[in-house]
Amino acid sequence: MIKNLEELNGMRKAGSLAAEVLEMIGDFIKPGISTGELDKICYDYIVDVQKAIPANIGYRGFEKTLCTSINQVICHGIPDDNRILKSGDIMNIDVTVIKDGWHGDTSKMYLVGKVQAHNERLVKITQECLYKGIEVVRPGASLGDIGHAIQTHAEKNYYTVVEEYCGHGIGKIYHDEPQILHYGEANTGQEIIEGMCFTIEPMINLGSKHTNLLEDGWTVETRDGKNSAQWEHTIYVNKNGAEILTQRAEER
Ligand code: MF3
Ligand code: CO
Ligand code: CO
Repeated sequence: MIKNLEELNGMRKAGSLAAEVLEMIGDFIKPGISTGELDKICYDYIVDVQKAIPANIGYRGFEKTLCTSINQVICHGIPDDNRILKSGDIMNIDVTVIKDGWHGDTSKMYLVGKVQAHNERLVKITQECLYKGIEVVRPGASLGDIGHAIQTHAEKNYYTVVEEYCGHGIGKIYHDEPQILHYGEANTGQEIIEGMCFTIEPMINLGSKHTNLLEDGWTVETRDGKNSAQWEHTIYVNKNGAEILTQRAEER
């Protein structure tokens, strides 16, 4: 769906609130805290301070505000009072807030305590993959250009791209069309049009690209047990390129 200015302003508000959750929680991320506690802090912040709605709660039966995906978990990790962060963990926090009916969806990686160099590098290159995907966005480009830019950068660094999960159109609907693949060929797929809003959220693996869904029905892990990283932004396509609706102060 193509957004007009009023709708874009709704998306801007939701996006900045989602970004603020990731900024707010950063100071709490230390060895010893549980992902369940992090979830509670973010829930309270979204509901009491932001007066917004945590979109993940009740989404297809998911019960938490955040997805907390640590180390070999690719995405959709479930916050848990018994999962205590330890030094060396790398963790993605993915949050979506709804404000005035509009969704803002974003995630970032956090380093817990002292992290091994190869894990820190995975985190950094994955963020670069997200930015390279965003950089090719402009009216007239194709969705395949995004996937191609991401896959090229990942593979140049001897990493792999997860194929089963993808970015998505977003607005009043959380997961809308089109699907945004994080791999593919340049000049293929749908044309990018001014006014579109969608997420780009590459999941990049140290080892093989293959995934494994756990018995809980949500947690997605790498099949080989090696680590994975993910970063996500919600973007709006303007005349010249992409406006990042979920940009954090640290990125400006
Ligand atoms: N925020 C995720 C995404 O980027 C979806 C999480 S769905 C949940 O699309 F139910 F697991 F929270
Ligand atoms: Co998303
Ligand atoms: Co998300």
